[in-house]
This record gives sequence, C-alpha cells and structure tokens, in this order.
Amino acid sequence: MLNEKVKDLLNTQINKEFYSAYLYLDFSNYFKDQGLDGFANWYNIQAQEERDHAMLMLQFLQLNDAEITLDAIDKPNDKLESPLGVLKEGLAHEQYVTGLINTIYEAAFDAKDFRTTQFLDWFVKEQIEEEDNASTLIKKMELFGNDAKGLYSLDQELGTRVYSAPSLVL
Ligand code: FEO
Repeated sequence: MLNEKVKDLLNTQINKEFYSAYLYLDFSNYFKDQGLDGFANWYNIQAQEERDHAMLMLQFLQLNDAEITLDAIDKPNDKLESPLGVLKEGLAHEQYVTGLINTIYEAAFDAKDFRTTQFLDWFVKEQIEEEDNASTLIKKMELFGNDAKGLYSLDQELGTRVYSAPSLVL
C-alpha cells in the first residue's frame, strides 16, 4: 500500500504531465503557424514525452493497486507572443514541474515510502535534462534567432529531433 498523501500527489501529477503535453502541443501549433516547422516538431516530440511521463505515473499507481482519478486538463495559456517568449515559458514550466516532483519525493521520503522514491529517482534525473534542454533552446535562440539564416539553421536542427521511448520501464 502506498502512503495516502503520496498516492494523491502522484495522481495529481498524472494530470500535470498530461497538461504539460497539452501545453507543448499548443507551443507546437504556435510554431507551426509561424512557419517554424522544426520548432513545431521539437515541441510535438516534447508533448509525446510528457504523455509518457503521465503513463508511467499511471502504471506505477496501477502496479500498486491504487485507485486513480482522471481530472479535467486545464486549458493552456493562449497568450503566446513571440518565439523567444514561448521558449522562456517552456523553461519556467519545467522548473515548476521540478518543484512538483520534489514535493512528491519529499512526501514519499517522509513516509518512508521507498518504492516511490526509487520510482521517482528517474523523474528527478529527467528534470535535469528537461530544464537543460529548455535553457539550451533559449541560449541558441538568443544567439542565432535574430538573424534569418541563423533562425533557419536552428529550425532545421530542431526538425531532426526524433521520438524515443522513455528509458524507464516498469
Ligand atoms: Fe514531464 Fe517535462 O517533465
């Protein structure tokens, strides 16, 4: 049996991860509208990864015989005003998610729920990569985004991103 508070936090996190997928699909649509198909591809794949995160949380709860409640997914913020602004919103969102993961980890640790801390170790590490990816995009955009050729090359680079399944298997 999982600790009740930990179980509830994990259940809420399923929703947060699906919201992340929704948010990044919104980003992907924004970039598509701007003619930046490479950026759109990058965020489309990011959305797939977020769905994977949600499904891993869901599977972990199922494995532990926990009851799961699927809540409504919030509408993404639709005030996307510039490519750089979107990238910055992406980084802020990942920093927010890191805080959520840390909160669950802390609750699991306090409850001596070590099967959950072990499960969450993957997510703690994943958040390092998520924040690094987001901040690298911002740096590249600031370096190259103001020049048409630079922006074109960056868009081409982001268009090469391909989906790969998560390394965590339950
Ligand atoms: Fe599910 Fe982007 O962290």
